[in-house]
Amino acid sequence: MTEQSQGPALDNLLTESRTFPPSDEFAAAANAGPDLYAAAEADREAFWAKQAERLHWDSKWDQVLDWSDAPFAKWFVGGKLNVAYNCVDRHVESGHGEQIAIHWEGEPGDTRTITYANLLAEVSKTANALTELGLQAGDRVAIYMPMIPEAIFSMLACARLGLTHSVVFGGFSAEALRSRIEDASAKLVITTDGQYRRGKPAALKPAVDEAVAQTPTIEHVLVVKRTDTEVAWTEGRDIWWSDLVDKQSDQHTPEAFDSEHPLYILYTSGTTGKPKGILHTSGGYLTQASYTHFNVFDLKPDTDVYWCTADIGWVTGHSYIVYGPLSNRVTQVVYEGTPNTPHEGRHWEIVQKYGVSIYYTAPTLIRTFMKWGKDIPAKYDLSSLRVLGSVGEPINPEAWIWYRENIGANRTPIVDTWWQTETGAIMISPLPGVTSTKPGSAQRALPGVSAKVVDDQGKEVPHGGGGYLVLDKPWPSMLRGIWGDNDRYRDTYWSRFADQGFYFAGDGAKYDNDGDIWLLGRVDDVMNVSGHRISTTEVESALVSHPTVAEAAVVGATDPTTGQGIVAFVILRGDAVDGGADAVKALRDHVAKEIGPIAKPRQVMVVPELPKTRSGKIMRRLLRDVAENRSIGDVTTLADSSVMDMISQGLNKGGSED
Ligand code: WT7
Repeated sequence: MTEQSQGPALDNLLTESRTFPPSDEFAAAANAGPDLYAAAEADREAFWAKQAERLHWDSKWDQVLDWSDAPFAKWFVGGKLNVAYNCVDRHVESGHGEQIAIHWEGEPGDTRTITYANLLAEVSKTANALTELGLQAGDRVAIYMPMIPEAIFSMLACARLGLTHSVVFGGFSAEALRSRIEDASAKLVITTDGQYRRGKPAALKPAVDEAVAQTPTIEHVLVVKRTDTEVAWTEGRDIWWSDLVDKQSDQHTPEAFDSEHPLYILYTSGTTGKPKGILHTSGGYLTQASYTHFNVFDLKPDTDVYWCTADIGWVTGHSYIVYGPLSNRVTQVVYEGTPNTPHEGRHWEIVQKYGVSIYYTAPTLIRTFMKWGKDIPAKYDLSSLRVLGSVGEPINPEAWIWYRENIGANRTPIVDTWWQTETGAIMISPLPGVTSTKPGSAQRALPGVSAKVVDDQGKEVPHGGGGYLVLDKPWPSMLRGIWGDNDRYRDTYWSRFADQGFYFAGDGAKYDNDGDIWLLGRVDDVMNVSGHRISTTEVESALVSHPTVAEAAVVGATDPTTGQGIVAFVILRGDAVDGGADAVKALRDHVAKEIGPIAKPRQVMVVPELPKTRSGKIMRRLLRDVAENRSIGDVTTLADSSVMDMISQGLNKGGSED
């Protein structure tokens, strides 16, 4: 079925067959027991209604789900709530104002301790500032910031005012920021002067200046001082955070918004060059973010210290740093920097310092820790840890076992959580107090969620069989569309299995003999590099926008650390004869500039031709064979089968790695 099904997950079926049940002690104290599955099974809508009651609603809904306009869902129809009130105020009102919400750890070692009372004051001040700038419910705000508390204040202030935020990862380029501002017609950008990158300050605002020079909808740029980097200033447009926010009142009364009021847009790569603005709304989203965070991580708000290592620029940061955890009155660590600054034990030093009990990270980082060696975590006291999580790509069993043994002291449950920007919250995952976990498998849909593995025809495959992962019933935190493009929404997610009405996630999967689900990677032209989604077409467009490039084809090749690495095959224009190291470097830098450093190809190979079918479609499967040093597969559909020989021969030229 899939071209990528040789991924690491499959190997595990052969190499690791142990399962790990929770200890009796863990199971007895767990937030979620087996009854949760039974309750969801008995009455799905009643089950979700019960989960929604975890939140404070200013007016209750009249209908749990309206699916009459499918695939556009409405959840908790007629209900009203304020998302920020649910994440902040109500914890202060219930007497937890002095509880620490955020232990913030800056990359250079500076720290801030933020209680729920502090958080309420800061979010209120920020909300008052945004109001002073003239922003009104429904307006869009771009947030382009490193992992500092003001980023979280900004997101929550938007939620509080009914503004729709669009967080753009601080590692993205000016061009990526510009296109996102333009697509959403944002009125404000919130940013910083600079950000720390591996111990050194790097300017950030110049990218904003470049982006907003071409986006007339932007009225103001609000700038937090983080690195004391010298910045250019446009009077009237640019405002220092300290000048505007600090002077505001710390009192602000939240207004209740409709359950379906837009909460945020988050752009993600698809199979075309243009990123999709995934739209999430309020009541259903917060319900599922909150429910999953509470049950999957077994959060005990009075005693746990939680740490999710994602960046707020990704959906994991939205759902499992901001909305899910704060709605559950978490005490959490937020870390600004990279895992090896200033040394490779930084994460474990932080776990030890704050007594982190729940740690949620990505397989690529676990494999990096493996590479650095187990002696590093062994130097720290990690005994506070009691739940470990993984997200972003299939976790290979070797990494899973290493994680359990070296971080989890052979004791902690590991939850491998499958979900997407589009799903808004975790969909498939073990429940740590219930499930006997299997290294490499995300296992079962959570209670209330329904997922199936189906064949080409949409028929469920038997145990032991593989196919496409689909979601066959609507869920509360599902995307409500692609911003400004309903047709693309229908086309992208609902057309593949239109007859059955399934949402197709883009992933291949299989059932094992127990019916547990194993994710096998994407089946479309989307790469997964260090848990980040990058489309092959997007990188190809960036490459062909360079004057020396005539044609480009990009594939994701298996990479031992990052999951996949980006490998580009380019044909240079006739007049650009030099395909040497300088040309290759220029192209890699060009992609980094167009999209962001995360999209920089691992290798660029200059080739005379690209393999194409007779209808002109590039055969990525063959390129992947070359990129992964496999013998080349079936070439019978190639228009000109000698092309592959030429490519293989050209291989040693132009490969490049930092
Ligand atoms: C894609 C979604 C969900 C937040 C981070 C990425 C892959 C994600 C897993 C997992 C196997 C996974 C899928 C999915 N993926 N988690 N536990 N096992 N694959 O969000 O950027 O929207 O990417 O990441 O391929 O479709 P995203």
